Amino acid sequence: KKVVLAYSGGLDTSVILKWLEDTYGCEVVTFTADIGQGEELEPARAKAQAMGVKEIYIDDLREEFVRDFVFPMFRANALYEGEYLLGTSIARPLIAKRLVEIANETGADAVSHGATGKGNDQVRFELGAYALKPGIRVIAPWREWDLNSREKLLAYADQHGIPVEMKRGKKSPYSMDANLLHISYEGGPLEDPWFEAEEDMWRWSVSPEAAPDKPEYLEITYEKGDPVALNGEPMSPATLLATLNRIGGAHGIGRLDLVENRYVGMKSRGCYETPGGTILLKAHRAIESITMDREAAHLKDELMPRYASLIYNGYWWSPERRMMQSLIDASQVHVNGVVRIKLYKGNVIVAGRKSESDSLFDAHIATFEDDAGAYDQKDAEGFIKLNALRMRIAAQRGR
Ligand code: ARG
Ligand code: SIN
Repeated sequence: KKVVLAYSGGLDTSVILKWLEDTYGCEVVTFTADIGQGEELEPARAKAQAMGVKEIYIDDLREEFVRDFVFPMFRANALYEGEYLLGTSIARPLIAKRLVEIANETGADAVSHGATGKGNDQVRFELGAYALKPGIRVIAPWREWDLNSREKLLAYADQHGIPVEMKRGKKSPYSMDANLLHISYEGGPLEDPWFEAEEDMWRWSVSPEAAPDKPEYLEITYEKGDPVALNGEPMSPATLLATLNRIGGAHGIGRLDLVENRYVGMKSRGCYETPGGTILLKAHRAIESITMDREAAHLKDELMPRYASLIYNGYWWSPERRMMQSLIDASQVHVNGVVRIKLYKGNVIVAGRKSESDSLFDAHIATFEDDAGAYDQKDAEGFIKLNALRMRIAAQRGR
């Protein structure tokens, strides 16, 4: 019996490690990923070693995360419930994939994670694991044990000699989750949706009030719908997103306070900081605005909420998400060019957009000046009359 545990090195997953050994008498393989959460990984290795773990996996998944998950999602301009950039949701399918790969490599028959039974994350991990390895067994300790408070977890850690250095020092009151796309805060004082988040909760951004009085301009280059360079300098996906997080955060970009509907049925209040993602959503829409056909763009916009829900609800590895992804990717072949963006006190303002190879914007046709016959205004008369026909008939009938 062997189980692969998604292990952060923190209190919860350390208790889970021990609990799995005690409860199931199984060998535990730990898996810790760097997806840009900004924490050292070596302490997790040391802790796992100290707890007697023999197979320890530590992976740097930052580039894969942004290139194969965040950017494909951004091609769709995905937002859940109109606001949430899906920062946590999009990281879970990658973790699920790695858990399954490691299970295959080590001959493990189960995977385990530290998500509670009340949230979305359990659904995302497990739908992913089942989709990629149908016979896998999933162990979700939070749904089984009765260690349902921090006190009980600490007591368990004490009893079993689990080193808990984070017991000392100030523990954040929030449930947080961070990666290269965002940092999220839930719980604690946020459980009252009327209570305004305290300024010192936010870790990635200054408040718009405290942002510089001088705007900052950025140029983002797009190829096939993906950002590939910043101010003319080519950058890898992870570097580009990290750089935009830093610059955006300094200008107070990307804070969100939201009450959202979890897949398991409850409403939940969360605060998010997504500086780079907020910039990239604006910029991507701007480059699409000159390179994409109207009906193609509108069709994409109709599908977007559906696509966003699929990701939120954990269906990244489903056939319907893959189908929609093919359609979205196909829509991006001409999405090439440069967007000029102004950042100012929490605002992302499009200042310009251009595409030498793929612009559909025709200044000769659109001009308010003499267009030298490029567009015949007389054509508009019949166009409008035929479109009005059914409304005229109805009006004649007194409707
Ligand atoms: N509510 C957000 C989501 O479902 C964030 C979840 C944060 N997860 C966490 N384990 N703290 O995507
Ligand atoms: C959790 O319950 O593990 C975090 C919140 C969520 O998954 O939605």
